[in-house]
Amino acid sequence: MQPSNLKETFALLESAKSESLKYLDNADRLPVYPTNDALSLLALFDEDLPDNQNNPSDTLCKLAELGSQTIVNTGGSRYFGFVNGGILPIGLASRWLADAWDQNAALEVMSPLSAKLEQVCEQWLVELLQLPDTTKMGLVGGTSVATLCGLAAARNHQYNKLNWNVNEKGLIGAPRLRFIMGGQTHGTVSKMIRLLGFGSQSMKIVPSDDQGRLNVACLPPLDETCVLVLQAGNVCSGSFDDFTALCAAANKAGAWCHIDGAFGLWAAASPLLRHLTSGIELADSWAVDGHKTLNTPYDCGIILCKHPSAITEALHQQGSYIEFGKSRDNMIYTPDMSRRARGIDLWACMHHLGKNGIALLIERLHEGARYLAERLQECGLPIANVIHFNQVIVHAGNEALTQQVLKHIQANGVIWCGSAIWKGMFIIRLSVCSWQTNKTDLDVAIEALASALHLTEETDHTNQTTHP
Ligand SMILES: Cc1ncc(COP(=O)(O)O)c(C=O)c1O
Repeated sequence: MQPSNLKETFALLESAKSESLKYLDNADRLPVYPTNDALSLLALFDEDLPDNQNNPSDTLCKLAELGSQTIVNTGGSRYFGFVNGGILPIGLASRWLADAWDQNAALEVMSPLSAKLEQVCEQWLVELLQLPDTTKMGLVGGTSVATLCGLAAARNHQYNKLNWNVNEKGLIGAPRLRFIMGGQTHGTVSKMIRLLGFGSQSMKIVPSDDQGRLNVACLPPLDETCVLVLQAGNVCSGSFDDFTALCAAANKAGAWCHIDGAFGLWAAASPLLRHLTSGIELADSWAVDGHKTLNTPYDCGIILCKHPSAITEALHQQGSYIEFGKSRDNMIYTPDMSRRARGIDLWACMHHLGKNGIALLIERLHEGARYLAERLQECGLPIANVIHFNQVIVHAGNEALTQQVLKHIQANGVIWCGSAIWKGMFIIRLSVCSWQTNKTDLDVAIEALASALHLTEETDHTNQTTHP
């Protein structure tokens, strides 16, 4: 870099670093969710694209000024919404470095480092999750796209068995495939099935049990036209399907079995929780996120596939200018070609934590969820699920009251959590998924929910006495 460019770049990076450190220093004092006043600042981004170049420090300044007031504070320890996870310091630091290196992870020739680290992560994940030795890994944006990759591999593999070359002939006139899944399957799965060219008529929804697990007794007969989609970690209850029985049925019938384990597949890395994932090794593909339970930076979706030829036939790409490497080209396992080197920060998080650190992190999240559930129940907030993993669903007795409690919580900024409909009931959903959340944070969450319930009940009572 020219000295003048270097000076400007250093100044910019110093400003970015100082703003980042300011945020991290303040994270536990900031509201978990921006106030409405703060959110109104977002309108200041509504401007025409500038005609002329701005000074980069002015651009960064504007971003820092408006962004720091309007971000959702997932970098703190009291965000319980969705299953968003936090970011490990080593993840953030290695991401900074990787961003400065700006590697394109597509081909080995573009970034031998990315190729090497993805190969190492693949091997570590296969060992950690105890998957078959032939398993290959691709890194994508999230579990949604990881599932797309798994199902694309399934499509090629099953059609090969049916003597139909789908890469050549496409889907018109093809034998029908059937996608079998539980009633509580995550919405991304049907989205990806549709994206692969199969309509909802190709999906067979099997009833679930009271925890959202696919009911084994209701599994229809399977054959080679079937792709069975299972779940490790229901997004509300955190429950796990019975992989041993279901994968065995799929294997026997020659069906493909894909497991959506966005956050729950990590249970396999804990000796204490591994029983939840018994039988996953019998599946054909698995989707999991680094950015959820493992707390890597966004975006780190992971597809793992037992059949290398199935995934590469589905995702392989040619081009006269493409120079394939000798060891590993990451892009043959993903739909994208150019992309950031996610393997760098995934490797750094795994290398830093090691097997025991990963197990401890997972077990702490589970313990946190159990503690939260026990104490909330004592505070008069019934728990609607068994605490299988890290998800807690709770209500206030009736829908109107539960909605009011959630409204208080979402407005006061002490913690943040969301809602869902569970077995026809409006519920509040809490996910313990940040490495930073400790007992004090859980106590703050319990206190916030208990006070919101108290306030809501008082208002309810006052309204009933004033308007009999
Ligand atoms: C079970 C499950 N599957 C899929 C997804 C989608 O994952 P992503 O947002 O990384 O695409 C989620 C998100 O929470 C999930 O919980």
